[in-house]
Amino acid sequence: MNLSKLVLKNFRNYGTKEIDFHPLVNVITGLNAQGKSNLLEAIGYLSTLSSFRGAKDLDMVRWGCPYFFLEGLIKKNTGDYTISLGYNLENKKLLKVNGSARKKFNEVLGILNSVVFSPEDLNIVKLGPAARRKYLDGEMMQLFPTYYFTLMQYQKIIQQRNNLLKEIREKKQQEEMLDIWDEQLGENGAKIIKKRLEVLQKLAPLARLTHRKITEGEEELEITYESVDQEEILKKITWEKIKEILHTMIRENRKNEIIKGVSLFGPHRDDLKLMVNGIDVRKFGSQGQQRTTALSLKMAELELMKSETGEYPILLLDDVMSELDEKRRSHLIAMMGDKIQTFITTTDMAFHFREGQVMKVFQGEIKYLNV
Ligand SMILES: Nc1ncnc2c1ncn2[C@@H]1O[C@H](COP(=O)(O)OP(=O)(O)O)[C@@H](O)[C@H]1O
Ligand SMILES: [Mg+2]
Repeated sequence: MNLSKLVLKNFRNYGTKEIDFHPLVNVITGLNAQGKSNLLEAIGYLSTLSSFRGAKDLDMVRWGCPYFFLEGLIKKNTGDYTISLGYNLENKKLLKVNGSARKKFNEVLGILNSVVFSPEDLNIVKLGPAARRKYLDGEMMQLFPTYYFTLMQYQKIIQQRNNLLKEIREKKQQEEMLDIWDEQLGENGAKIIKKRLEVLQKLAPLARLTHRKITEGEEELEITYESVDQEEILKKITWEKIKEILHTMIRENRKNEIIKGVSLFGPHRDDLKLMVNGIDVRKFGSQGQQRTTALSLKMAELELMKSETGEYPILLLDDVMSELDEKRRSHLIAMMGDKIQTFITTTDMAFHFREGQVMKVFQGEIKYLNV
């Protein structure tokens, strides 16, 4: 798939802009703080309806303006799609696909699939479990829009259950009130775990393969799902079984959860275990091993999307060029640039590509350069 046209109005430091993109490599160059990443953020927003930098919608409205608007023309195997998005300062959002209004996020998610590479990817390996759950969930939300819905529901359940646990601790509520929430947690939690396990069964071999390639066969990456003390979950993959195990855990630990006032078991606590040549790379990997692992995980994302949807997503490379030496830059571009529409922000142009265009950004203005 590719994004052939983007319209921006009042997004970050852009006024009204209409940009045509090349179906392969699009290099976005310019000095610091000119709007390179802002442009990538706008593209990513059309895909995931959120900022890959974690910014709030409010912060992306151009200062002094009442709203932002984005529109993208997407060309896919299944046809052309126009996504239109508006957001105003009264926190109202407008979503349209091919001109007709859509109420729910998950009706728009999955139309434009994207994967972002950025220097922060290292956090997937280095930081705590939340970063790894975010990686997996982010991929899954794009591929399976109903997963997004289940996840949102689950988060609400956990929040309300946590409130109740605290109220029980303070003797404001009866302990029996928990039963219904335990049921809800079990139902939805098991759905999430089941789906994650299914996805991981495909993602893990893809990541292992890429990792082997990048390390020229020197390293083996093994990814497993780590669920709080629930070895069994990995073996018994039916939804009913997972639900049963979750229930047992919760029942046995009820007292403890009330004392702590938080839900201690379920997919919101789970993690991905990352082993390289038998060593836990999250804790003991060298910087280089951690970087390679992060890159393998991201590249596996691209391959998984391809195998699930039949086409590659678009690829956003934010500032990763400066982190790589010249040989690796060219290697990365050669691997991606011939088959995937790629958007690259960079301050310098020290790399080569076969087919594409270069745009120069200066204070929110865009100029096409001849290459
Ligand atoms: N909501 C906004 N309205 C107007 N300008 C903004 C807004 N948010 C960020 N900016 C401006 O965007 C610039 C940063 O753009 P960015 O794309 O991150 O830079 P870079 O080209 O280095 O990637 C800064 O100059 C900042 O002042
Ligand atoms: Mg930037």
